[in-house]
Amino acid sequence: MHRAFIALLVVMLLKATRTTTEPTGVLFLISSQDTAYHRPLAARLRHDIINQAESQLDNTNYIVTVHILHEIFNFPSYWAIKNSMPLVRSKLLEEHTKWVVWLEESTHVSLLLLLEQLALEDATQYIYLGHTLYEHQANIRHHFAFHKDSEWFPFPFQRAGIIFSRALIIKTADEMEATNIYNSPFIIDMEHELAIYIYNQVKKNAFESKYSGKDPVGTKELNTVRKVLMRKAHYICPLSGEETKTTLDEKCAMYAKPMDKSSCVTLRPQNIFFAVKTCKRFHSDRMPIIKATWGRIATHIRYYSDVADPKIPTTYTGIPNTEIGHCEKTLKILKLALQEIDELNMQLKNLVSERDERIYWLVLADDDTLISIPNLCALLGCFNHTQEIYLGERYGFHQSINNGFNYITSGGGVAMSLPAVQKLIAYCHCIHPQDADDMLLGICFNSLEVPIIHSPQFHQLRPQDYSGEVLALDPPISFHKFYDTDPFAVYEQYFANFDRQMLQEIKNKSFTNQIATN
Ligand SMILES: *[C@@H]1O[C@H](CO)[C@@H](O)[C@H](O)[C@H]1NC(C)=O
Ligand SMILES: *[C@@H]1O[C@H](CO)[C@@H](O)[C@H](O)[C@H]1NC(C)=O
Repeated sequence: MHRAFIALLVVMLLKATRTTTEPTGVLFLISSQDTAYHRPLAARLRHDIINQAESQLDNTNYIVTVHILHEIFNFPSYWAIKNSMPLVRSKLLEEHTKWVVWLEESTHVSLLLLLEQLALEDATQYIYLGHTLYEHQANIRHHFAFHKDSEWFPFPFQRAGIIFSRALIIKTADEMEATNIYNSPFIIDMEHELAIYIYNQVKKNAFESKYSGKDPVGTKELNTVRKVLMRKAHYICPLSGEETKTTLDEKCAMYAKPMDKSSCVTLRPQNIFFAVKTCKRFHSDRMPIIKATWGRIATHIRYYSDVADPKIPTTYTGIPNTEIGHCEKTLKILKLALQEIDELNMQLKNLVSERDERIYWLVLADDDTLISIPNLCALLGCFNHTQEIYLGERYGFHQSINNGFNYITSGGGVAMSLPAVQKLIAYCHCIHPQDADDMLLGICFNSLEVPIIHSPQFHQLRPQDYSGEVLALDPPISFHKFYDTDPFAVYEQYFANFDRQMLQEIKNKSFTNQIATN
């Protein structure tokens, strides 16, 4: 049945293309990361698309090309689609390229289904297609765009795949080049920022809209019809739960998949040291929340403050609190934490244990960060702790294509391997005590050539600040901020189940250890 369907489709494609000799180029760009974990996943997707093209597109006029973006672009903001558009246009867009499809390494692509849909579209129009995301309320992540009624504005979900027409790529690239300095240097949610940019900067010609001929000139309508909004494509799907899984392949030409962690070896909580940054003002309201939730699961957790408080207890940093920035304080915390980790690891070296109890990772968190230790253990197990690793939710600060850096936004938690922390402490200094600590870490790691690794499982903000489809994909590792939200409810909804399981395992282990030592 399925095979007959494909055969039919090939014939249809042949028919569709025979009438014209002009080839149709489709360029696939895989946005991935240059790490030992991500590289094989991206290579597998490229291989998969090329295989489909070779076996299914013989004797057609389709030309399918696949690139892994970081292999060809090495400027630091290549991961933001709009920032790569000028180079995609000048380096990758060929005469025959009609469509550019942006993917991540865990996007699923059914090539024939996709081409069948694209055959119905016109690549000379300014269009982009994908799974549309919407926000629940105007939020800081989106710079409070349309703050009065932001819920109507559609923006794309890269992991599900985004299709751009040739015309839109060229137009957007032109606009980006015309404004050599980027109007907003921060990249926070690049998908939303891309949609806003296209909405604001890419204007259709007055007579190109479907209202042409109706003389809309001078009417208010003109302003809206000339804007370019992304269009929802029913055949581009988010992975939305078990119930759709069985039929997903049939109707979805592209869809988002969770990150494949089959190559990873889950860590244990013992392998991670948590450094929580607090100050006197929050000892009584924030500390109890952490201690009653994820703090219970942590084997090694310290609360660093400007005031020693034996009731918690806090570790005194000797650095006065600043209202903003915290640069000096954060570096001091990392020094103190590393010192203690070294001491603990020395003691553990002499301990005979069948399992590795040593500390390999340092995770820095705020006093209003919620963390899932089980989900963190699963992710960190994808990376080699003997290498320099700096991991979390990536933001960017880029004033132009070659001027800028990426950093891990610290509220969502920053995970670092010990070699990375050692290098940072040896070389990094604050210029002012109140410099933004997370940006300074980004600048230092950038100049030390420690790669930054992004994981969408970390969250600088609350669950309501992210789209439901995105949160449903991979198990979240962190959320941040306790305002306008009940942190206990967030913890219960996202983290508590796995934590209870882990607590049970920890209890079982100490019980069996007791038996063994008796
Ligand atoms: C981790 O990296 C070290 C040093 O680069 C290497 O020797 C080791 O084989 C790697 N371990 C794994 C499991 O890949
Ligand atoms: C803990 O031990 C109990 C009793 O032996 C067992 O039933 C349970 O499955 C164990 N739980 C975990 C999470 O290991």
